[in-house]
Amino acid sequence: MNKNFEKKLQDLKKENLFRQRVLKESGSSSKIIIDGKKYLSFASNDYLGMSNNYELQEALSESCKKNGLGSGSSPLISGYSESHKELECLISEFLGTQSTIIFSSGYQTNVGVIKSISESTDHILIDKLDHASIVDGTLFSKAKFKRYSHNNISDLNEKVNESDKDIIVCVDSLFSMDGDFAKLNEIQKIKKDKDFYLLVDEAHALGVYGSGGRGLCNEMNIPMNEMVGITGTFGKSFGTFGAFFSGSQDVVNFVLQNSRSYIYSTSLPRPIIDATIKSINIVMKENWRREKLFELIEYFKKSVKQYGLNNLNSDSHVQPLVIGDERECINLSESLYNDGIFIPAIRYPTVEKGQSRLRISLSSEHEKHHIDHLFKNLKF
Ligand SMILES: Cc1ncc(COP(=O)(O)O)c(C=O)c1O
Repeated sequence: MNKNFEKKLQDLKKENLFRQRVLKESGSSSKIIIDGKKYLSFASNDYLGMSNNYELQEALSESCKKNGLGSGSSPLISGYSESHKELECLISEFLGTQSTIIFSSGYQTNVGVIKSISESTDHILIDKLDHASIVDGTLFSKAKFKRYSHNNISDLNEKVNESDKDIIVCVDSLFSMDGDFAKLNEIQKIKKDKDFYLLVDEAHALGVYGSGGRGLCNEMNIPMNEMVGITGTFGKSFGTFGAFFSGSQDVVNFVLQNSRSYIYSTSLPRPIIDATIKSINIVMKENWRREKLFELIEYFKKSVKQYGLNNLNSDSHVQPLVIGDERECINLSESLYNDGIFIPAIRYPTVEKGQSRLRISLSSEHEKHHIDHLFKNLKF
């Protein structure tokens, strides 16, 4: 055990890596209030502005009055309701898969799915920039694993070909800190030569990309068969909370029987489920949210060029402004904060040391003048 907590904490402070939570008074999307002051926020994953949607709030409160708040138990005891089943069916229909199960968070989903579907004789290959929950699921698994260089398809191909075991490839469809897209079409080509199980985490893409927000697998025509599984979260574009795993009937049933993070955790409250069902139905229909977001992305990219900044050429609603040095990034974030703009400095271990950045999350709730306001206040 590490007994020298105080010294370790001091070291983090010296390295500008000490992280603090900001105490928010209210707001969850583009406008938040801290200490009585209004801030324009670019730090929420509520990409379609759904968390403040009145219809969701109504669905939630109606369900709460009817069913109570907590689900009372884990899903295999008494925590599985008609609402849970309805949401599972809706997701399967939405994604064109055979079956779905609802987890209580995206972190639990990736950890639980990867651990339960892998065997000690398997090889797991993950992208260097995959989310921590994929990394942790892989670490929990008894399989051997390797990380391939970020979005480097020839490295993935080499690693697939040098393995004589069953392979599972896990990849984020939209990388959460760089904002770039996985090369799913090219991964699919490798898969045609030597099949493997492909697990795609659509956390940041669902709601935004693909027909009706069905995600990047849908946009890139990745066939949904027994060798493909999708994970996704409700806490981002859908504006609620929780997550799911979706795939073939057999693999979903197997995860249900074996995933410890599914079996040994209280299932999502029914009001959250009912609000999520409402959200998915709205997100599917209301294309204007995506269209507005795409306009904002183009507008943001123009400003990045105009100001000569480094956004790693992101084309998505996740726009990193890479600063590099930790202290400089904190200073910039603090100066924006003093001007009423909230964007925390993202540092190691979320990104590599020396790669600190302001991670800008664009939302359909933003307006072009918000982006102008941000760039005018960026003082290097
Ligand atoms: C790619 C990715 N997967 C999974 C998760 C975890 O989702 P949740 O917040 O529902 O635990 C996140 C959260 O940020 C994420 O970015």
